[in-house]
Amino acid sequence: MTCAIDIIDLNFRYDSFALRDITTQLHIGEQKAVVGLNGSGKTTLFKLIVGLLRPLSGEVYVLDRRVTPEDLWEIRQQVGFLFQNPEDQLFAPTVWEDVAFGPQNMGLSNEEVEDRVVEALSTVDLLDLADRPVNQLSHGQAKRVALAGVIAMRPKVLLLDEPFAGLDFPMVEAVVDTIERLRRRGVSVLYTTHSRFFLENWADSVLVLESGRVVYDGPADEALREPRVLGQVGDWGRLRESIHRSRTVPLDIDAGLGADMEP
Ligand SMILES: Nc1ncnc2c1ncn2[C@@H]1O[C@H](COP(=O)(O)OP(=O)(O)O)[C@@H](O)[C@H]1O
Ligand SMILES: [Mg+2]
Repeated sequence: MTCAIDIIDLNFRYDSFALRDITTQLHIGEQKAVVGLNGSGKTTLFKLIVGLLRPLSGEVYVLDRRVTPEDLWEIRQQVGFLFQNPEDQLFAPTVWEDVAFGPQNMGLSNEEVEDRVVEALSTVDLLDLADRPVNQLSHGQAKRVALAGVIAMRPKVLLLDEPFAGLDFPMVEAVVDTIERLRRRGVSVLYTTHSRFFLENWADSVLVLESGRVVYDGPADEALREPRVLGQVGDWGRLRESIHRSRTVPLDIDAGLGADMEP
């Protein structure tokens, strides 16, 4: 196996071009941040990787398998996709049913489904909300339930679209912890962020998109010396101070510092 994700000369357009000539890789076990202003193409890229959109040209491979409409079911079992808005992802009546949906569709036994749901909800620390209707969750809870649904599938590759936006710092720590645990099991992670915090503390490498084109793709420490990257990820000094304060006052660490907020 060479790569978790291999993207070659990928182009995509809606009415106008959204992604141009994208070539990049996510290596096995790697944690890669995708950075770019609102509208730069991050979500579109993720949708192309899981086959929710079809490329205009170019190729996408997930674990050496080309993403084609015929292979989508297999690809989905390998790749967990956390949507930008958890509300778009949760649809079962209760938290438990929502997290159980994926494993049930894999044809697992009831016992195995139950094991996975308990494990996934414990991991995000929401087991006590198992019976709660999904439409009665806060944004942060909905995000963690959506993550539990992804974890319950035991994917080898995780695509996390703005996993930390809208979460306060203690919850960010909980989610980071969860993903770190998966990573120790060899899971490869591609995630979007607006915050320098995650580039400094968490990313192995960084892909920077500007108007649908790659303007930087390389190690995270070098990225932080690139003016083009720094312009998009906010002022860490100010953030560091806020984190210090957040031991008493929670803050949203990935609220689009230095970048446009999501609408
Ligand atoms: N469903 C859509 N139809 C038409 N244009 C879209 C659609 N979704 C996104 N776009 C456009 O594609 C570009 C990239 O959007 P997106 O991938 O959502 O960027 P990001 O996730 O980085 O904010 C933007 O110009 C956006 O307006
Ligand atoms: Mg987006």
